[in-house]
Amino acid sequence: MIHIKIFADTSKVEEIREFCSWGIIDGVTTNPKIIATDGNDLESTIREICKITNGPVSVEVTTNEYGGMVEEAEGYASWAKNIVVKVPLIPSGLKAISTLKSKGIKTNATCCMAYNQAVLAAKAGAAYASLFYGRIGDLGYDPYIVVKETADTLRMWDSKCEIIVGSIRSLIDVNRGMQAGAHILTVPPKFLRQMVENPQTTKTVDEFLEAWKGIPKRK
Ligand code: E4P
Repeated sequence: MIHIKIFADTSKVEEIREFCSWGIIDGVTTNPKIIATDGNDLESTIREICKITNGPVSVEVTTNEYGGMVEEAEGYASWAKNIVVKVPLIPSGLKAISTLKSKGIKTNATCCMAYNQAVLAAKAGAAYASLFYGRIGDLGYDPYIVVKETADTLRMWDSKCEIIVGSIRSLIDVNRGMQAGAHILTVPPKFLRQMVENPQTTKTVDEFLEAWKGIPKRK
């Protein structure tokens, strides 16, 4: 039995605060592009996010060189106890994941585009393997199948590595990622809002309130 977790895929502090207040957020993921696009300072923003949620907060290394990745990861890990370091699934990244595991630093193997990469992430000791749903689809593969087969294998092994499905392009990606057996969906703000809002719900709620206004109230 798994409990599906939802992460916010953003560095926007006020949005994260709001989503956490809804009681649905189990963690946060960022990457260098998200930080740059949101126009945020890396360290102060991540430190702030780590105060908003006790869940894991992923922050990504900004180099592909082994020594640099380990050094950056050690720096990030000193910012807060819920930091998880995102390391790309490349050869030097696998080595860094293995080293960081031995140092007690949690990693999120990122940019996984295939079953074999996610399996290697688990073998190397990553706490999380991020499968990029939208980008896998861009390659011509069915991301649902990739997530399902990876999830089945990790569960068969009783692996502690959890699959995060990221690179969400539409609401159906969120739903299919969950149904495929991912442990975690990391969802951008736009789609988190879409998950809640439904025009038929809004119309129905308004209709009920209008009906209520129309009857005389007891004093
Ligand atoms: C999350 O961990 C990923 O970094 C993110 O979802 C990638 O999204 P993109 O494919 O839209 O860049």
